[in-house]
Amino acid sequence: MSMIELQNTNKAIIKNANEKRLVRLSIILTTIFLFSSFLFCTPAIAKHLPIPSSICGLLVTILNFGSKWAAIIGIAFAMAWYVVTKLIKHAKSKNEPPKKIIIKFAKIARQFHVPISILALGFALVHGYIAILNGIKLNVGYATGLLALGTFIILSFSGIRRYISKHKLHLILTIALIALLIVHIIYFIF
Ligand code: HEM
Ligand code: HEM
Repeated sequence: MSMIELQNTNKAIIKNANEKRLVRLSIILTTIFLFSSFLFCTPAIAKHLPIPSSICGLLVTILNFGSKWAAIIGIAFAMAWYVVTKLIKHAKSKNEPPKKIIIKFAKIARQFHVPISILALGFALVHGYIAILNGIKLNVGYATGLLALGTFIILSFSGIRRYISKHKLHLILTIALIALLIVHIIYFIF
């Protein structure tokens, strides 16, 4: 079966039409972003592009800075879905109706959970690619980066399975990803 069954049949993995449209759009945008970043960031290709090398250098600097933090923002947003569901469950357990603002945000967090995660994976891939091009070193920073990227990829596949059945793997991988990223960021800050 293809990554996501996009046909409007009962067998479709994504049932919500709006979410399906957003996922489709995020896949297209991520593909364009990955392809153009690959062209700009690969020195052997970039030198043949009809763009001054100073502009290309500036683009890579922006991509390098922007992509790693954009990936973090995307991952934090994906986590927000878990946080709002917990808040709603907590309110229900106390027999109180959840706050309107939480219900509103829950709808946004659910519909954008997968599209934003797909974009975040694209950003993480570009950041990893630029870091590897700059030369790989044997240290905790690079090891946690590579492990985080691997975990993110498996997490995304477990997410596709999560549409079909409830399982714990998606949550366990989320915790592993966040732990690896905390070490990764702290390592490079200090
Ligand atoms: C899920 C994937 C990843 C995320 C979200 C991520 C995120 C980040 C962030 C936010 C920083 C900035 C930390 C700071 O300035 O203190 C950073 C730095 C760094 N990361 Fe990653 N990273 C990921 C994967 C990777 C991979 C695969 C590599 C390479 C093997 C890597 C190599 C580096 C390096 C070398 C730095 C320090 C230099 C720089 O800021 O560009 N990262 N990463
Ligand atoms: C392309 C990537 C992803 C896909 C396809 C995906 C898919 C899903 C789906 C279908 C659900 C169930 C939603 C529901 O209850 O209706 C879910 C829940 C969840 N996702 Fe994701 N997700 C992805 C990425 C991520 C990322 C990057 C994170 C964390 C940083 C994350 C964290 C969670 C958590 C914590 C839950 C709730 C726990 C659970 O029900 O397992 N997901 N995801």
